[in-house]
Amino acid sequence: MIYLKTPFEIDKMRKAGKVVGDLLKFLEEKIQVGMTTKQLDTLADNFIRRHNAVPSFLNYGGYPASICCSIDDEVVHGIPGDRVIQDGQIVSVDVGAIVDGWQGDAARTFLVGNVSEEKKKLVKVAEESFYKGIAEFKVGNRLGDISHAVQSYVEGNGFSVVRSLVGHGIGKEMHEDPNVPNYGRAGSGIELKEGLVLAIEPMINIGTYKVYTKRDGWTVVTYDGKASAHYENTVALTENGTEILTL
Ligand code: MF3
Ligand code: CO
Repeated sequence: MIYLKTPFEIDKMRKAGKVVGDLLKFLEEKIQVGMTTKQLDTLADNFIRRHNAVPSFLNYGGYPASICCSIDDEVVHGIPGDRVIQDGQIVSVDVGAIVDGWQGDAARTFLVGNVSEEKKKLVKVAEESFYKGIAEFKVGNRLGDISHAVQSYVEGNGFSVVRSLVGHGIGKEMHEDPNVPNYGRAGSGIELKEGLVLAIEPMINIGTYKVYTKRDGWTVVTYDGKASAHYENTVALTENGTEILTL
């Protein structure tokens, strides 16, 4: 069931989106070599609460932290802990916050220190593929137009798109219909309508698109151990066109 949002509801989501967007900028300034992923989580949790928001990830399906922190071959859902962030790593940070019952969800992949050219390109293509996707997010297009735009851009750059994890509708719940795959056929899927709010989130790999979940039950890693990048925003289709709520 897809819940289209009214302008009033989208305004509420704008507030959650702002906390999430500001938090990612704050974390980008703070992240550095030698820090543990748990320290990043604590900074984020404090930031969210200071802004009168609720961390949406904490206890979601038993998830034990307020952010996900996924390094190099970790695709998503890395659990913050004692791991120390090292020079040359790429760190995907995924955050979610609830304001007044409405959700925001976004992720960035940060470059830490001296990162290889290949990983830098991966991170850049992940972000750019998101923009290829939202260029198709308009009334009258279909969901598959977004998916296809992301996939063709990523594969055209020699990288692969994760299949087993997808973006999603978002609103009062973090995960609502529809699923938003980062692969698919142009012209397929549901018609895009005013009031649709999605989390569009390409997860892309240097090597194989295949991934698996580690024994901790959360951390998703690439099958071949090569690096992965993630870029996500909550986006709304409003009366004035496309709006990114989490910049
Ligand atoms: N941002 C993630 C997503 O888009 C959700 C984090 S998973 C959680 O699906 F369980 F940690 F919340
Ligand atoms: Co999401």
